Amino acid sequence: MQIRMVATTPFTDQKPGTSGLRKRVQAFRQPHYLENFVQSIFDTIDVPAGATLALGGDGRHYNREAIQVILKMAAANGFGRVLVGKGGILSTPAASCVIRKYKTHGGIILSASHNPGGPDGDFGIKYNTANGGPAPEKITEAIYAASKTIAQYRIADAPDIALDELGDSRLGDMTVSVIDPVSDYAELMESLFDFAAIRALLSNGFRIRFDAMHAVTGPYAREIFVNRLGAPADSVINAEPLEDFGGGHPDPNLTYAHELVEALYGGNAPDFGAASDGDGDRNMILGRHFFVTPSDSLAILAANAHLVPGYQQGLAGIARSMPTSAAADRVAAALGIPCYETPTGWKFFGNLMDAGKVTLCGEESFGTGSDHIREKDGLWAVLFWLNILAARKQPVEAIVREHWARFGRNVYSRHDYEGIPIDAANGVMQRLHDRFAELQACPEQGRGGAQFGHLQVRRCDDFSYTDPVDGSVSQGQGIRILFVDGSRIVFRLSGTGTEGATLRIYLESYEPDVSKHHLDAQQALATLISIALGVSELRQRTGRERPTVIT
Ligand code: G1P
Ligand code: ZN
Repeated sequence: MQIRMVATTPFTDQKPGTSGLRKRVQAFRQPHYLENFVQSIFDTIDVPAGATLALGGDGRHYNREAIQVILKMAAANGFGRVLVGKGGILSTPAASCVIRKYKTHGGIILSASHNPGGPDGDFGIKYNTANGGPAPEKITEAIYAASKTIAQYRIADAPDIALDELGDSRLGDMTVSVIDPVSDYAELMESLFDFAAIRALLSNGFRIRFDAMHAVTGPYAREIFVNRLGAPADSVINAEPLEDFGGGHPDPNLTYAHELVEALYGGNAPDFGAASDGDGDRNMILGRHFFVTPSDSLAILAANAHLVPGYQQGLAGIARSMPTSAAADRVAAALGIPCYETPTGWKFFGNLMDAGKVTLCGEESFGTGSDHIREKDGLWAVLFWLNILAARKQPVEAIVREHWARFGRNVYSRHDYEGIPIDAANGVMQRLHDRFAELQACPEQGRGGAQFGHLQVRRCDDFSYTDPVDGSVSQGQGIRILFVDGSRIVFRLSGTGTEGATLRIYLESYEPDVSKHHLDAQQALATLISIALGVSELRQRTGRERPTVIT
């Protein structure tokens, strides 16, 4: 096998975002684009000779081609073995599981998560370290720095590897092991949850529906729900992974998972519904005619963890991203365990889990997970819910309402304005920064915070986080307007979009009064919503009358 050194010049836009490098498929198809980024990863991580790499993706368009390129580059960069999922498939949580189980040096995951796929859609690539989690910022920054000075990459001249046969083959001095992408993951799930109790629940007329959205979780869901738990085959819908996700937007929320939502809100609805995203790390949970807000879901899993075998020994702590509601904080306080508030993105949970400080983590963006791996995990969250339902034998809605009655309700919503001009988005953020002094209290001048009806501003800031484990500081993580009564508004620019800018507004208030728990979140948050639009001048600056997506 011959190794070629290919001369190249840097691209200037290979800066990883919230979750790896995401671009249009066409951008990745530019000559040397993928190769430059992969070589930048390999140069940054300093591959020990003979190391093992895990490799797989969500099966979207360009997945297979990218896998072939990465295999040849891995062989040329000194790897001894690559574990690649059959067909080039590994869900993000399964990749994390494989990295940890087989103690690989790291892994490359090909996915743009919930972004649409297909020839005109998005593609993405990210590097996960030996703990199975997304590379921390110091590594992603170093990869970006390497991408700006790259002059050559190494690639083996070799024929393509057959990805559809399990087993080993050689690529020069390197072994390529094509592995079953589902079995290690399914086994891990079986070790955490009471499969017998869930099987009994499903055989007693409790009906579930899982929407794989034509993305990566189809084969995982079939194996776990149908083969191992005995659910009827039609419990899993859109189970065939497609390179373009059937033209859909594989994001499990009320807007994009509409087929599932219609079924759960229709006549003769199933008892439980769930969906996952392109790469299988997100989850949406529905009861019959009922939506569980992801922030509430995290809190409810924590409050009921003692019912689940894998968590019966207790939780070390909980972590949530800053924009996620404080519902989990209340549970942590009741359990007498710490609750950490991190910036957006799963990579910030890794250190806390590695240090044994937290067991459960979650984000408002339909991400929940635990220290069983180092990624958020869609099917894990679904199984956790099913385990609780099997133990409590109550409907989803009753469990949520009892939770609110006990802890109070953190009323929550997120409004996304997608694809707005970057300058307008930056203008909104700048305007908010400029108003901090005017909005917040100034004790020196004997002045309280700005008053909006019954709401008074306590403080404004741009969230900054100091990692309690390694001391690293992440600044500029979202503008917060915090009110005296605990309500808050957060403004953040997305780090995962590929078209213009996406501005997210996160709204939260706290309602202890059970007689008001029936209110629709948009209704209950109406005052905060109008304050958010007013202070940010969002409508004037972007010309947008309403959000693209409300969750
Ligand atoms: C979004 C979510 C964030 C999540 C990330 C990856 O990032 O908001 O919570 O970790 O996707 O799934 P954003 O686009 O907001 O930067
Ligand atoms: Zn995802």
